[in-house]
Amino acid sequence: MCGIVGYIGDQQAYPILIRGLHRLEYRGYDSAGVSLISEKGDLNIYKAKGKVAALEESCKSQDLTGTIGIAHTRWATHGEPNQVNAHPHYSESRNLALVHNGIIENYKSLRTQLEEYGMTFASETDTEVLVQLIEYVKKDHNCDLFTAVQLALNYVVGAYAIAILEKDHPDQLVCARKGSPLVIGVSKKADGRTEFFLGSDATPIVEYTNQVVYLQDGEIAIMDRTGRLEIVDLKSTPQTPKMATLQLNLDQIEKGGFPHFMLKEIWEQPNALRNCIRGRINPANKDIILTGVLDHKERFLNCRRIIICACGTSWHSALIGKYFIEEACQIPVEVEYASEFRYRNPVILPDDIVIAVSQSGETADTLAAIELAKEKGAFLYGICNVIGSSIPRATDSGTYLHVGPEIGVASTKAFTGQVITLSMLGLAIAKVRKSLSDEMYHMLVEELYKIPDKMQWTLENNKDIDKFAERFTYCKNFLYLGRGYNYPVALEGALKLKEISYIHAEGYPAAEMKHGPIALVDAEMPVVVIAPKRGMYDKIVSNIQEIKSRGGKIISVVTEGDVTVKGMSDYTFTIPDTRDCYVPLLAVIPLQLLSYYVAVTKGCNVDQPRNLAKSVTVE
Ligand code: F6R
Repeated sequence: MCGIVGYIGDQQAYPILIRGLHRLEYRGYDSAGVSLISEKGDLNIYKAKGKVAALEESCKSQDLTGTIGIAHTRWATHGEPNQVNAHPHYSESRNLALVHNGIIENYKSLRTQLEEYGMTFASETDTEVLVQLIEYVKKDHNCDLFTAVQLALNYVVGAYAIAILEKDHPDQLVCARKGSPLVIGVSKKADGRTEFFLGSDATPIVEYTNQVVYLQDGEIAIMDRTGRLEIVDLKSTPQTPKMATLQLNLDQIEKGGFPHFMLKEIWEQPNALRNCIRGRINPANKDIILTGVLDHKERFLNCRRIIICACGTSWHSALIGKYFIEEACQIPVEVEYASEFRYRNPVILPDDIVIAVSQSGETADTLAAIELAKEKGAFLYGICNVIGSSIPRATDSGTYLHVGPEIGVASTKAFTGQVITLSMLGLAIAKVRKSLSDEMYHMLVEELYKIPDKMQWTLENNKDIDKFAERFTYCKNFLYLGRGYNYPVALEGALKLKEISYIHAEGYPAAEMKHGPIALVDAEMPVVVIAPKRGMYDKIVSNIQEIKSRGGKIISVVTEGDVTVKGMSDYTFTIPDTRDCYVPLLAVIPLQLLSYYVAVTKGCNVDQPRNLAKSVTVE
């Protein structure tokens, strides 16, 4: 939600900032803006409604000089997405410019107070309150910007990552974070010069340096052209910057010849999952080693309940994880919408384990849910993709997905990465608790190891989805049905379709259809049924009959070699045979491709669907 970029050094800042904004556009694209201290010494702000390209267009005739600047791409929360509400925001004197990611919860009372002191506001945003507050405190205390930010943030309730420029001090850049991510890139040249880069994540930084400092919650930093990087906390206590080396390269964040990130990420899944299981599954002895579990063996041995908190697609993978862990470990597992969990007074027992599943590791609701669980004494385990993000830092243990950066707003490889990680987790816990026979354990590990190859087969054998996607672009509704492990796949298929093609879609457990949704079925209604030749095959065949007899169009996902369901279907996608518990990893692939091609055929922007953003850092 909102992307921040910043730069101070000896290069022209504008091109660096614009490139950075393009990389962060997945975080929001309601408006974009940039602020530069020009060679003449002016503090300029340029902004435009819409995407970064609109900003570039509108800036063409402006003074774009300057070797220090900040920039922002917005996902609107307070105030409609227009030019006035776009960031950066000036302070009243126009001596400060600020960009912000997050939500200031007490902005109304702060604004009222500042208005009482005579300050006037140009926008409806909570962000403008921040920059005005900092200016007020700076004048009131007659202090420098770094000190003013430290003092001002003590009055602020809410989440923020901010970066601030000061017209009279073009040699320094100040930033701070609490609840929203911020990374500082440090590039030291052989001749002693230092450049600093700022980003909401590392993607705007990676092409310049691999040396970064992840700013921690409640930290405020100042960078200047002499190479000074000073960090303090909200009590002004100095903190030592912890330098880390980025595990990211440029290829991973570019489209690599694909028309969209989403399609690239769908096709990356076999390799992404190979990376995910590498070093964790040993095919020779059919064993799983998850250090996150081994380091806390006693916890997993004594645990009597697992609660998984997540949102959206991650919630769907959590549901598959529940089925797997309950079956393999015989531990009760509850799956919670983090947004609901955090505002209840949930019962958390001392031997509970709370797992957070999140691609970004920054989702505000998931983070708040685990903070609540921590307060209540739970052991926290994180399953995240973004290394160094907030959730892994807040948890006691965990497993990274290692599927590489996911840039398309619709989650694909992170979903399958989460499912395979939850399966490995289930197997690792089962081993600790001896809840599976050795034979079953080794067989499940061996089959899991084969999944990336089976995914590759699935991709190669469903290439022609693009050819018939066109027939569905005019549909108003879709139903997705699955049973057991495939019910969450139905939910995920429906979510993928609606979020990128804007076609209404619902996922249901197939047997629930008779309790209401079947009333919707007519000749216009495509019904996608996940019908592998496994477990409840006969029951799903009956469900298909019921839909057919009401004239519905059947799109099925079947096991290679199946003729029965194929014969009953209008369209069929084929997947290789695998254990019930692993079918979701294969069955979701044709559903991802279907939603992708329907959306592309409809002319939708699949990588940046309307109203959405990749990383939901506000509640
Ligand atoms: C849908 C999608 C979202 C995310 C959700 C949680 O394609 O990507 O539903 O799954 O916003 O995000 P993370 O996993 O980053 O916590």
